[in-house]
Amino acid sequence: MLRTQTCGELRLSHQGQTTTLCGWVDSVRDHSGVFFVNIRDRYGKTQTVFYANEASEVFTLAKTLHNEDVIQITGVVMPRPEGLVNPKMSTGEIEVKVESMTILNRSKVVPFLPGAPEVPSEEMRLKYRYLDLRRPDMQRVLVLRHKITKAIRDFFDENDFVEVETPVLGKSTPEGARDYLVPSRVSLGSFYALPQSPQLYKQLLMIAGYDRYVQIARCFRDEDLRADRQPEFTQMDVEMSFIEMDDILDLISQLAARLMKVVLGRELSLPIPRMTWDEAMERFGHDAPDLRFGMELSDITDLAKTVDFRVFRSVADAGGRVRGINVKNSADRYSRKDIDGLTAWTAEQFGAKGIVWFKVDAEGKLTGTSAKNFAPEVLDAIGAKLGAEPNDLLLFSSDTFLHTCRILNGLRRRIAAEQHLYDPNEMNFCWIVKFPMFEWSEEDERWVAMHHPFTAPQKEDLQFFESDPGRVRAQAYDLVLNGFEIGGGTIRIHDSETQDRVFNLLGMSRETAREQFGFLLDALAYGAPPHGGIAFGLDRLVMLFAGMDNIRDCIAFPKTAKATDLMTGAPAPVDEKQLTELAIATVKPAQDAATES
Ligand code: AMO
Repeated sequence: MLRTQTCGELRLSHQGQTTTLCGWVDSVRDHSGVFFVNIRDRYGKTQTVFYANEASEVFTLAKTLHNEDVIQITGVVMPRPEGLVNPKMSTGEIEVKVESMTILNRSKVVPFLPGAPEVPSEEMRLKYRYLDLRRPDMQRVLVLRHKITKAIRDFFDENDFVEVETPVLGKSTPEGARDYLVPSRVSLGSFYALPQSPQLYKQLLMIAGYDRYVQIARCFRDEDLRADRQPEFTQMDVEMSFIEMDDILDLISQLAARLMKVVLGRELSLPIPRMTWDEAMERFGHDAPDLRFGMELSDITDLAKTVDFRVFRSVADAGGRVRGINVKNSADRYSRKDIDGLTAWTAEQFGAKGIVWFKVDAEGKLTGTSAKNFAPEVLDAIGAKLGAEPNDLLLFSSDTFLHTCRILNGLRRRIAAEQHLYDPNEMNFCWIVKFPMFEWSEEDERWVAMHHPFTAPQKEDLQFFESDPGRVRAQAYDLVLNGFEIGGGTIRIHDSETQDRVFNLLGMSRETAREQFGFLLDALAYGAPPHGGIAFGLDRLVMLFAGMDNIRDCIAFPKTAKATDLMTGAPAPVDEKQLTELAIATVKPAQDAATES
């Protein structure tokens, strides 16, 4: 060992002892004749002192130090002089009087100081990630991530789960996001796909009799990235046999309570509340509602059918919906200009055609530019529906059901964040259940599976399978935390007949289904137990437990929004020789070709 203690360890009780510390130079301060160097490692910082008159050689060497040089010092632990104790540092009561020092390595001038309080630009952070990871904030998150992963493994181990690894080189299957492909050198023209999740393998493990499976698994999805999405992310993946939905929900609720206890030292009262998908969409306009605040959606479609105001009437008559939110006690906070800003934002973000708004005056009457289009009793009825009180601001969207959901959910979240309507430390869990089994894809003009095609329908909805697929609900469930979907799963189909019916409804011929999923259909015919499971986005879980708002900050080496790695330069062109071996020719993007010609 090159050190006897870490830089976060020394206390007054070590007074008089000789210590050897290793770490990075966090800061230097020259007080003519006395030279201070703060030395840092992942455990903390310690102040070290060099005196010109006592060890002049070491003193001279210390004066050559720069930030981020790596040093080893040996010295005596001393109490800090009266009045110079630093309560903000865990080692703030002591300092080390240095007797000898070795410079283990010099650092070039760093592009930013990891020990400084300001956060560098994201570009710099990602380019010099190894320096960014030296920042105490990042070290705290990665240690927290380790703690969460360990707590998860311990919990499942205690509950008889077996961790099994599944392949990373797999087969591309339709449905779901776009795959990342890996060309095969041995079978030219054929490709592996990186797994979007271990879904099929975990089902095969159930059929193989491993009735309680868990895996911390890396998943890959080539999709548009957002603050809570990465192309390469980690799932805590679970599957169980001989269970029903309630068993999984109960077990995972206990896990959530365990994580709250171990990671945050807080109690989570169980059971976690449940809400159906229909209710979530009606009340909050989203299937991952943030329940830390109210501002629920109200429906005035019936009223809209009775008015002449075209924006409302035409949508209501055409089967659309008119819905609104009440921003309490806020009419005076939003000027016309602010409301125009919100309207433009909803147009840009969600394609909203407009927002109809009213302000509630001191007498409780609805006012605003649109008010003149309504009879006073209709305005009163709208106000009553939304529980309007003086100084409330009412915002309405009239559109298809899903559009009103998107727009009002967007407004609801944005306004709540702007007005700090919730306690950022609250951890609000809820289960969303009974998702629709299928959704109509305008793009493909066919039904697609809302979760994945191996999801079992609610038994009572089997009757609508062929006649009204949109009405079929799935045995699907998501765990939501503070408005983020952190996990989702389903009870699976375990007989090949129902599986055939689903493929059929998805427009997949028997031949195509066999070609794509023949191995699963075969396996289902060899004694498949009833089974189901769930997968958590580990990165999202860490993000929320760490109180952050971006999963990039919870991953040691993440990708940018364009799925690039600014540090290594991936993705990057490869040798022509490698491509030849794989029989791959690249076609230059049209833009480059045009510039060249
Ligand atoms: P699903 O696709 O819902 O289900 O994914 C499960 C959880 O993984 C997280 N997640 C992501 N996290 C970061 N970046 C991404 N690009 C990303 N995509 C998903 C989310 C999500 O809740 N096999 C099924 C699970 C099952 O049915 O058991 C599955 O993958 O937190």
